[in-house]
Amino acid sequence: MDIEKRIRKRLEQRRQDGNYRILPRTSYGNDFYSNDYLGFAKSQQIYERVSDLTAVASLADGKLNGSTGSRLLSGNNVYVEELEKELTRFFKSDSALVFNSGFNLNMGLLSNVATDGDVILLDQNIHASLKVGAKLSQAETYYFHHNNLEHLEKRLISLRKKKDGLFFVITEGLFSMDGDIPDLISMLELCEKYGAHLIVDEAHSAGIYGDYGEGLVAKYGLEKKVFCRVITFGKAFGSFGAALLGPNYLKECFINFCPSFIYTTSMPLNSVLTTTTALQYRKNSDQEIKTLLNNCQYFADQMDTNFIGPIFSFQFKSLEILKKCTEECKKENIKLLPIMSPTVQKGKERIRVCIHSFNTKEEMDKIINILRSYK
Ligand SMILES: Cc1ncc(COP(=O)(O)O)c(C=O)c1O
Repeated sequence: MDIEKRIRKRLEQRRQDGNYRILPRTSYGNDFYSNDYLGFAKSQQIYERVSDLTAVASLADGKLNGSTGSRLLSGNNVYVEELEKELTRFFKSDSALVFNSGFNLNMGLLSNVATDGDVILLDQNIHASLKVGAKLSQAETYYFHHNNLEHLEKRLISLRKKKDGLFFVITEGLFSMDGDIPDLISMLELCEKYGAHLIVDEAHSAGIYGDYGEGLVAKYGLEKKVFCRVITFGKAFGSFGAALLGPNYLKECFINFCPSFIYTTSMPLNSVLTTTTALQYRKNSDQEIKTLLNNCQYFADQMDTNFIGPIFSFQFKSLEILKKCTEECKKENIKLLPIMSPTVQKGKERIRVCIHSFNTKEEMDKIINILRSYK
């Protein structure tokens, strides 16, 4: 079979399954789908501060536009090192290492720490980047039922009988598609009981939970007990990039061995300074988080559902109903897309509603009325 035929066949299968993807045009409307929970991505105040800082930093650093190379060559600078220091304070971590994206980081993470003879245990709803990372590693990979500690323990017991390598358990702080959170304290107890290392991806919980957005691990005081954390800057912090938080030796290990850290051009100054500014802003202002939490509470009450965080997930009786509901939202100028397989499991397709600090009550009422009429 020639390559074009093979690719066209795959694409045709997607169309037949009803989940063929196209790139949507972002246009104006009521945002109920972006990860910009606190509105930092469009904050004029952050933008102006970053513009000033970038102008000064670029001149001092001599690089006005790009970073010119990997951090191990010409792309390192004092600003990213300062950001890493700030991240260690903010998230109460021993060290922080900035990556260009959470996907890059997660792809390199498991393949770098887990090796032949080791065992990786992932929550079945874990983000695709961690699944890819697990595939790239030499370790054996298993899944446990979503947020199900009993199933995790069963897996740990049976695998411990067969394997004596290192064990890694991977979960998210706030699950990106489900909007729920694991019982981190009990999960950590299980990990300690069976000698496993816990890794928590806090992409969606960082910036939201804790006194000033330090995330769930730090909120519960578990920062020294988990093996490492992943945080990303493209969600609540409205910026771009990610960081690995963990012990110093892990940072050294990634600088020396992680291809997705080493062999890539480092982040431009503007993105570095956007994150630094967003962290400071989050620490000094509680206005956005308060409005976000009030909005989430209102939405949860009206939809008669639990308020856990800013992500709400609604499944429907059929794909047809889900699509109709999405269409009606579109007509009402509500920005939202259905989440289809393979992003979520087949049969678990859903509408994912993200609530933001900037959503008005009128906007929320519009979406609430539509969702109610289809539930
Ligand atoms: C849980 C989780 N981890 C990692 C990532 C990847 O982060 P980034 O967007 O920085 O590549 C995402 C983004 O969708 C995510 O939801």
